[in-house]
Amino acid sequence: MIPLTRRTVLSAALAVAAFALLPLVPAHASGEAGDVYKSPWCGCCTAWIDHMREAGFDLRVTDLEDMASIKAPLGVTPGLESCHTAVIGGYVIEGHVPAREIARLLSERPTATGLAAPGMPMGSPGMETQGKSDAYDVILFAPGGNEVFASY
Ligand code: CU
Ligand code: CU
Repeated sequence: MIPLTRRTVLSAALAVAAFALLPLVPAHASGEAGDVYKSPWCGCCTAWIDHMREAGFDLRVTDLEDMASIKAPLGVTPGLESCHTAVIGGYVIEGHVPAREIARLLSERPTATGLAAPGMPMGSPGMETQGKSDAYDVILFAPGGNEVFASY
């Protein structure tokens, strides 16, 4: 028997609190595996990968010097381009897309190529700043046309 001290009561309370938070984590994000391609010199790419891993995605990272060689074959047109390109659950993810939108994409599974956050919006995951944040759209893109999936 473990004596019921203040310490064990506190740790039991923390365990209950942690368990209560679990439903907030999107079910599909947990353990979802994918690949990310980025240039070897990209710091913000690494920051986005950290954001994704914290959200439960299991990403394998490949450094590529010629990013254009992967973007066009994956259907990322020039207007959608950002720094890194990922493939997760059969979808292409271009740039600093928030993990929660990717979790939503994977649960809704629309017919599309994937999601893009074109450019490098300040304030997006991996592009956090002390100062101002840019307003930006997350675009659901497909050969037949693009639409706004989320706005920040
Ligand atoms: Cu970037
Ligand atoms: Cu990047």
